[in-house]
Amino acid sequence: MTHPPIDPEMDNEEKRSLELAGHVGFDSLPDQLVSKAVSQGFCFNILCVGETGIGKSTLINTLFNTTFESDEASHYLQDVHLRPKTYDLQESNVNLKLTIVDTVGFGDQINKDESYKPIVDYIDTQFENFLQEEMKIKRSLHNYHDSRIHICLYFIAPTGHSLKSLDLVTMKKLDSKVNIIPVIAKADTISKSELHKFKIKIMSELVSNGVQIYQFPTEDEAVTEINSTMNAHLPFAVIGSVEQVKVGNKMVRARLYPWGSVQVENESHCDFVKLREMLLRVNIEDLREQTHARHYELYRRCKLEEMGFKDTDPDSQPFSLQQTYETKRKEFLVELQRKEEEMRQMFVNKVKETEAELKEKERELHERFEQLKRMHHDEKRNLEEKRRELEEEMNSFNRRKVAAETLMGQALQSCSQQPFKKDKDKKK
Ligand code: GTP
Ligand code: MG
Repeated sequence: MTHPPIDPEMDNEEKRSLELAGHVGFDSLPDQLVSKAVSQGFCFNILCVGETGIGKSTLINTLFNTTFESDEASHYLQDVHLRPKTYDLQESNVNLKLTIVDTVGFGDQINKDESYKPIVDYIDTQFENFLQEEMKIKRSLHNYHDSRIHICLYFIAPTGHSLKSLDLVTMKKLDSKVNIIPVIAKADTISKSELHKFKIKIMSELVSNGVQIYQFPTEDEAVTEINSTMNAHLPFAVIGSVEQVKVGNKMVRARLYPWGSVQVENESHCDFVKLREMLLRVNIEDLREQTHARHYELYRRCKLEEMGFKDTDPDSQPFSLQQTYETKRKEFLVELQRKEEEMRQMFVNKVKETEAELKEKERELHERFEQLKRMHHDEKRNLEEKRRELEEEMNSFNRRKVAAETLMGQALQSCSQQPFKKDKDKKK
């Protein structure tokens, strides 16, 4: 395929900046984008990965200041499965289609080797669904329910020691597919000094195992300061509670204990506010964008490369989708012909083999027939011989019988003549 020639003059042409003499109107473009986006609404999908009972549902309820449906998971499940639930939320005039995906049974199996797989599969399936929609002839991406996971909240048990191997393996498997924000769950169960050391330990373990967690972006000047400060606070130590407690003359969310209370939104008690600010206020759009531009892009690239599509040919020249399609089609036809020829050859060989087998069988049958014929002939000759001998025996027997009868006749005759002669002698 040939590409249209590029006019070198046009290519080198400098773009000039011109002053407008008056108001034209295109400065309303960003407002149009905002109002269009607002009228369409937004999607945000959160994946909660953490062992049973670690506080996933409580934290999500606390984050969104509402009560979502949640069933307590059993500790006796054979494997991990994912449970997505979608809700429509509204804040001011902004509609949010929120999907919360829970990992049910995570960390409960004796053998946890495969625990990460259902999570990876779920994330890939959402990417695949989006890719399929994108590749349709008649796409409807504007009203497509985008279920790709924008953030994975990874709940770390507050052991104060280190990460578990299951945590490291799972985060390692997920880090190229999703933005991971690790959180230390039930942080009220860990002392201040222990928490500090625990955070350092977790971060160093993540680094030494090459696990890439989501970093709040620092490129945009408006958020550089806050995001870089917050990056230093990772992983956030969080507390969840839906209980309201009166502190002074205000009702606040807290957990009550016999010795006192821990306030969820008090920044000296835990990092809950930091998490909510970073996740839902400052970086929600970056999380959505990173999901599309980084994680989905990687999935799409690998998938298309797997299917044989590429952007450049072996000489690093641009290679269009059409060319790839035609090359693939040619390769396919050549392969098809080769397969056809192979099958034809196989068929001919099979026929030849069968023919040879049949001939061999025929020869064997013929030989057997000849052998039987010879046997039959010999038997017949033997029988003839026997019959001849029997006939001869019969003849000699008959001859002897006749001779014996003759002798007997003569003997009888001579016996009957002798008394008559004696009578005659007596009369004399
Ligand atoms: P499954 O959905 O069954 O896996 O559990 P989950 O991870 O959703 O945990 P859930 O939020 O249901 O909380 C389990 C228990 O932990 C409940 O008794 C909560 O009150 C308690 N809990 C939740 N968050 C915290 C916390 O921050 N600190 C403490 N101490 N307990 C908490
Ligand atoms: Mg739950």
